[in-house]
Amino acid sequence: MKKIRWGIVGLGNIAKKFAADLSLVPDCVLQAVASSDALRAEQFAQKHKAQKAYSNYDQLFSDPEVDLVYIASLHPKHADLTIRALAGGKGVLCEKPLGMNSAEVDQMVSQASQANLFLMEGLWTRFNPSFNQVKKWIDEGQIGALRYIHASFSFNGLAKGKDSRLFHPDKGGGSLLDIGIYPLFLAYYFLGIPGEIDAKAHLTEEGVDAQLSSILSYPKAQAMLYSSFIHDQYMGATLCGEKGEIYMYSRWHEATQVKLVKQGEEQIKSFEFSGLGYTYEIEEANRCFNANETQSEKWTWQNSIDLSRLMDAIRAQVGVNYTADTLLPNRKKFNKS
Ligand SMILES: NC(=O)c1ccc[n+]([C@@H]2O[C@H](COP(=O)([O-])OP(=O)(O)OC[C@H]3O[C@@H](n4cnc5c(N)ncnc54)[C@H](OP(=O)(O)O)[C@@H]3O)[C@@H](O)[C@H]2O)c1
Repeated sequence: MKKIRWGIVGLGNIAKKFAADLSLVPDCVLQAVASSDALRAEQFAQKHKAQKAYSNYDQLFSDPEVDLVYIASLHPKHADLTIRALAGGKGVLCEKPLGMNSAEVDQMVSQASQANLFLMEGLWTRFNPSFNQVKKWIDEGQIGALRYIHASFSFNGLAKGKDSRLFHPDKGGGSLLDIGIYPLFLAYYFLGIPGEIDAKAHLTEEGVDAQLSSILSYPKAQAMLYSSFIHDQYMGATLCGEKGEIYMYSRWHEATQVKLVKQGEEQIKSFEFSGLGYTYEIEEANRCFNANETQSEKWTWQNSIDLSRLMDAIRAQVGVNYTADTLLPNRKKFNKS
């Protein structure tokens, strides 16, 4: 079978990790890379053995030798770059969050649907073996009806400063979109869309969430979620059912160990990651591309739309607004009544 030819645009921190993992996945190659900085593109291409280096994203999007594009730029660029890549006839794996808000995600999905091209949000945790083990235990009914999820994601990013992508509003700063998306994903994946959300945040002077807590209420369950850029912590996740519990060890979103506790007995499963763990989402994108599937059944377009709507709702409650939100229709409907 012909190798799938990948392109990467936005050659920063995550792009380096992704490119290293891409080299571990069979049947695909890094064909081209593009950066706003020509030297960065050249050096990246050399290090990761890409055939071509572009200093213009659109040249990569129109390169007939590229099949799939990985968008690794800052959140506010995701929608525009994805739409341009799709317009160039490329399938797209775009970093999380897929868009700044649900209006952007709707546009991206609509473009992929019209063009009949692959689009997936790079929510890599969904494809990791430890997450699949947790899903298996829950699907088997090992812990019975799920009643409680507790998950958090935080690290101390203060030293990066207010101009960094973590804190600057124009760079999509704020903990929810960057890391709070993972706890929200866990609750949404296993419990669905909550009936109510109660969110509280401490905002920076620039108006982004430095620290954010949400309680998601379901008819018979609750989820307590937390994200922050101002301190480190042990980052485990807990899922409790009527018959047992599951613990995902720190850092749970990339856990290599998970534990089932049931009737006083413990079962621990450990997994060796292939690379840093981005290999699994790459394999899924490759599988979809080869099967002519425009979306992954493991993390669908609707899943990304739902997640973005939940983030819109949480942001509306705590008062975090971005320039992209002018596109959001009926923003008030997300406010707490
Ligand atoms: N899945 C994960 O584990 C994971 C981990 C970290 C980040 N991420 C996601 O990956 C994305 C990038 O994060 P990162 O940490 O890699 O970011 P980064 O290193 O700060 O920047 C990535 C690229 O974005 C472009 N960029 C940076 N600042 C810009 C600006 N002011 N204006 C326009 N473009 C700018 C640059 O692209 P050029 O090279 O073209 O100049 C840069 O190389 C984020 O959306 C984040 O959510 C995911």
